[in-house]
Amino acid sequence: MNIVDALVNHHNVLRSLYQQSETDPAVFETYIRHLVVHHTMEEKYFYDFLEKVGSARHEALEAVNEHHIIELIIKDAEGFPQDHENFPIKIEGLGEYTNHHLGEEEEEIFPLARQLFSDTDMITLGKLFEQSKENMLNVELPEPPKHIDTSGTAAAKSTAAGLGIGSLKS
Ligand SMILES: [Fe+2]
Ligand SMILES: [Fe+2]
Repeated sequence: MNIVDALVNHHNVLRSLYQQSETDPAVFETYIRHLVVHHTMEEKYFYDFLEKVGSARHEALEAVNEHHIIELIIKDAEGFPQDHENFPIKIEGLGEYTNHHLGEEEEEIFPLARQLFSDTDMITLGKLFEQSKENMLNVELPEPPKHIDTSGTAAAKSTAAGLGIGSLKS
């Protein structure tokens, strides 16, 4: 699959996850995960190349800048309590801005890419995007152990012991 078709397919997944999270906030985490993975891979396998083509540089940089704005909206929504009655407003703000961004890519940027990149390169980038996206979506982050000392004194204690200061004082 070429990179543009792969990106459009994932856009449709994002649109659907947004729709679901509007009625079920439990889907919100999955939506965010897909969104962050989408931006990371889209920049690595698409915009990093498109921004090097002089005639498309401005559009590419504008789209990457919109990714940054979306990340700020994500941070804001993540800091908001999910059980609050106004949490759906946060989801809506993020979803509407994101959908606007997806539409702009499909209408203005992807047609440009189809003219500028060869079919072979588009397919190479598409395969890389697909593989990396699946790998990243399937990464399981192990839970940290419960016994991490957060008192702030653990390192100081061990440094003192390492220097022999503790035993000199006692
Ligand atoms: Fe994007
Ligand atoms: Fe995209």
